[in-house]
Amino acid sequence: MEHFSHAMAFADPFTADDVERRTPLQTVKAVLPFLWPEDRRDMQLRVVIAVACLLLGRTANVYGPIVLKDLIDGLEAFVASTQTVNQADVISGLLNLVLLYGLTVMLPGVLTEIRSAVFVPVSEFAQRVIGLRAFSHLHDLSMRFHLDRKTGGLSRAVERGTRAVQQITGLFAFNVLPTLFEISMVSIYLAISYPPKYVLVILMAVVGYIAFTLLFTEWRTKFRRDMVSQESRATSINVDSLLNFETVKYFGNEKYEANRYNDALVRYMHASVKSQKTLGLLNSGQLVVRVICQVTILLLAVQDYLSGDLTTGEVVMLNTFMLQLFIPLGFLGSSYRMIRQALVDMEYLFQLLDLKPEINDREDAAPLQVAGGKVEFQHISFSYEPGQPILKDINFDIEQGKTVAVVGPSGAGKSTLSRLLFRFYGANAGKILIDGQDISDITQDSLRHAVGIVPQDTVLFNDSIQYNIRYGKPDATDEEVETAARLASIHEFIVSQPNGYQTRVGERGLKLSGGEKQRVAIARTILKNPAVLVLDEATSALDIKTERDIQAALTEVSRNRTTLVIAHRLSTIVNADEILVLSKGEIIERGTHMELVVASGTYAEMWRRQKEAADEIEKIQEIFTDDEIRSLQIETDNLSR
Ligand SMILES: Nc1ncnc2c1ncn2[C@@H]1O[C@H](COP(=O)(O)OP(=O)(O)OP(=O)(O)O)[C@@H](O)[C@H]1O
Ligand SMILES: [Mg+2]
Repeated sequence: MEHFSHAMAFADPFTADDVERRTPLQTVKAVLPFLWPEDRRDMQLRVVIAVACLLLGRTANVYGPIVLKDLIDGLEAFVASTQTVNQADVISGLLNLVLLYGLTVMLPGVLTEIRSAVFVPVSEFAQRVIGLRAFSHLHDLSMRFHLDRKTGGLSRAVERGTRAVQQITGLFAFNVLPTLFEISMVSIYLAISYPPKYVLVILMAVVGYIAFTLLFTEWRTKFRRDMVSQESRATSINVDSLLNFETVKYFGNEKYEANRYNDALVRYMHASVKSQKTLGLLNSGQLVVRVICQVTILLLAVQDYLSGDLTTGEVVMLNTFMLQLFIPLGFLGSSYRMIRQALVDMEYLFQLLDLKPEINDREDAAPLQVAGGKVEFQHISFSYEPGQPILKDINFDIEQGKTVAVVGPSGAGKSTLSRLLFRFYGANAGKILIDGQDISDITQDSLRHAVGIVPQDTVLFNDSIQYNIRYGKPDATDEEVETAARLASIHEFIVSQPNGYQTRVGERGLKLSGGEKQRVAIARTILKNPAVLVLDEATSALDIKTERDIQAALTEVSRNRTTLVIAHRLSTIVNADEILVLSKGEIIERGTHMELVVASGTYAEMWRRQKEAADEIEKIQEIFTDDEIRSLQIETDNLSR
């Protein structure tokens, strides 16, 4: 059960002020609709059957000792009886009681199995629906949310939360509640048929037992928590040390590492011993309460037996009740701890589901009607963080089928333009129109279908190259994928790999070089065939030769397509219909390449420096290898930034 408490050490995946906290009751209420799905009669039926099995089983459980009582009293009466009664009748009656008793012992077990079998689909269904809802919801949340969160923490929160649903139903609905039900039934039976002192003793014992267990478990939590955190500390020292084995060897620090690990183990041991000791105390305490109660009941029963108020059977029955009631209560401490943790996990999950996406479709949002794809930025101002303006009153149009290029120093806000065009963020002022429609009035879905991007940093799915290219158009045929790959100058590379199009690209695409990744990104955007195209330094990771190859492809792709090019290497944008020079969020120069060069401003200066560097590279091209030229080129690029 140790793994549950790890959750205590796990950091809140989002800050508390994002959403309101829930009480445990509200959390449980939030789960109920998933366990009782409105539109799934079959699931509802399963719940009803499961509850019926449960009640029936527990009733049989209570009935057992009563049958036992009748049996014993019957036996006693039989032994004491004179020959006048019909022996055969009595014996068959007693045998029936034995069979009935067997039934009361068997039924609870069988019904429990039936109950779990019937209920499993319900809890799996609830987990699937909740997990899926969380998954879709996370994808709906805005860029800002995802940039602020640790993805690992998020998926852990979802996983824990869905598992908690199962735990809560398993522990609370099928363990704690039925036990309370059983206790009430026994109490009612005793209250009706016997003097009130019995039910009083039993109730006092149960209440005392529960109170003691809960309080003690609460107190013990800190020892368990300490043990868990010492354990994870020891593990992390162990793992970290092994990961760094090279460094350890370089410095000959094996002994030092062993000592460090030993220290951690010793601490864990101390914490673990403390935790075990307190567990022992808890168990002993529970035992004491139980024995006191049992002895008291027995004393009372013996007294009443001696005065003739109770039969032998009744004494046995009372004792059996006591034994039976305390068995499920024995798990109370750990159930309590797990339920508490499950509630916390579930609360996280539901808080997550409560988060409102920052960017929403309007109620009456219509799909974008593409008619050529004219893009207009009108008085756009934007800041990621209040008080830190990134874009200031940006105005430009890209006429249908034309190309506008944006250049400027790093951090000027170039990529931010494309994020706004995709509506990952809402502008603080101004609007962006596509074919005359404000992008905040149309559905995000239709907007993102109409706009395609080759991003600055391409991240790929850990799957095959083919899968990654096809991502641009999931229903594309193999031929279409190949055509796109050819256009992006990546086909040759792909077929040269042993596994061809099935080559795996590794985690986030890291098995491909930067340039190869970029070409995959170009191919998948070619496949998507968007009305509006954004190229964010789409060829920055390529050497001059490959860049020229692809440039031809990109020119082909962007011909007659509205295109926004963000470029660092100016040679790639000389043919743009308009060039905007962006600096610190403002357009400081605009015009065609020739106009800007003639104006001899910032652009002309950038052009001159890059041209010199490029000429330099051409000159030495005969002396150096391609790789050396590439690194030189990247260096000069950085210099001229
Ligand atoms: N999510 C964010 N939150 C806060 N600030 C951000 C965020 N994203 C970018 N910025 C800041 O906004 C500014 C503009 O970023 P942007 O990515 O648009 O620059 P860029 O012009 O594309 O630069 P580069 O040429 O290096 O790609 C930068 O100063 C950056 O630090
Ligand atoms: Mg950028």
